[in-house]
Amino acid sequence: MTASADDLKNAPVQNGQLVRPWQDVTSFGQDDATVLENSSGIYVRDSEGNDLIDGPGGMWCVNVGHGRREIIEAVSKQLEELPYFSPWTMSAPMTTKLAERIASISPGDLNNIFFTTGGSTAVDSALRFVFFYNNCLGRPEKKQIIARVNGYHGSTYLSSSVSGKKSEKAHMDMAKGLTNFISSPKPKDRPKGMSVEDFCDTLIAELEAKIEEVGADKIGAFIAEPVMGSGGVVVAPDGYFKRCYEVCKKHDILFISDEVVTSFGRLGHYFASEDVFGVVPDMITTAKGMTSGYLPMGALLISDRLIADINATTNEYRAFTSGFTYSGHPASAACAMANIDIFERDGLLEHVREIAPYFAKAMNSLSDLPVVTDVRVLGLMAGVECELDADTPDEDRDCAFTAKVDVACQELGLLVRPIYNSCVMSPPLTITKEQIDEMVAILRAGIIQAAENT
Ligand SMILES: Cc1ncc(COP(=O)(O)O)c(C=O)c1O
Repeated sequence: MTASADDLKNAPVQNGQLVRPWQDVTSFGQDDATVLENSSGIYVRDSEGNDLIDGPGGMWCVNVGHGRREIIEAVSKQLEELPYFSPWTMSAPMTTKLAERIASISPGDLNNIFFTTGGSTAVDSALRFVFFYNNCLGRPEKKQIIARVNGYHGSTYLSSSVSGKKSEKAHMDMAKGLTNFISSPKPKDRPKGMSVEDFCDTLIAELEAKIEEVGADKIGAFIAEPVMGSGGVVVAPDGYFKRCYEVCKKHDILFISDEVVTSFGRLGHYFASEDVFGVVPDMITTAKGMTSGYLPMGALLISDRLIADINATTNEYRAFTSGFTYSGHPASAACAMANIDIFERDGLLEHVREIAPYFAKAMNSLSDLPVVTDVRVLGLMAGVECELDADTPDEDRDCAFTAKVDVACQELGLLVRPIYNSCVMSPPLTITKEQIDEMVAILRAGIIQAAENT
């Protein structure tokens, strides 16, 4: 039904509305979002002067914490020297150096760095590279993608088409005939009585069956986050990621590891694919922690092998006709360089590896609350799942509950990111043991308060 002329006449006058990501268009004009005015370390300050722990680290991204002078100065210096260059035809030292530096910290032969404007454009570029690669290799039918239910890969047409969160597809169109979804590897969802090891076997068997059904000659790539972030911090059973990789290799299917969340220290390493999961993928996508959210930037890392495969087919012109006005923007590159400098100077990766067991123990301590039915933690990311009545699952009821926890925690001094029925934490990596205690104490109090008011 479209709005009538009368409806429009009576609608409130809206001059220059902000349209947010995931905007509910029926609630324009009712925006009561908290206004943040400044920030420092793991804290943000709202317009009423309240300091709040940044539990989600912005959006899984403020990895080195807020208020880093070095980043601000490096960006400002770069803007004074050279605010822009055309990445099509020119180069700039900062961007070239950043590509070299990322290659030096990336796994295996992932030495080819294609800069993007964020995570979605990194994933989009990876998928376009799959198409390009198979076209160059003379197998244009090998284009379909395997992805997972509840995976999240972004918000462009292609990246959203391989994302598996059902709730986000309701009123949107996705690329038809592109993606074949397999189950989320969430151990809590395994059938009653099944061991986690057997559950892992069934997931791998499902991947094999999907390949059999679609045909390996039709499948270009498998895309997966090492730990599903926006799906609620889903930590798969041990060995799952590597076994998926091995199945893909067996069937000549490219393996894309979406490390937009898990790279740059979230799991204690620059990239988690190899160091945590023992996999050197064909491509890695990254963003977020790469600049710690101070400026937008992402990257697609492509293996030498893929480039060599294309070169082996021809000596002729073969352009990967993909790229952005702001690919490798020098100010973002300066930001990423200063960010990595901080990681190295402050030993941030080591800090995460050292503090992760403490974080896990603290998050797991919430399991004694009756509404907490699952706690999932790896590195410095955690999902605390809440169910008001585990015997009668009701997603809407439990999502409303975690929304209440969010409100309660904010009043107590903590930002929470509820995703479905989970409270998700991914604080700045600089967090100390005392700050973890403070964060978990508030989360506990928020959950208790929300439960009392339900
Ligand atoms: C795993 C993953 N991939 C891709 C994206 C999209 O990144 P962006 O929002 O920077 O486009 C996200 C965002 O949360 C993500 O979590």
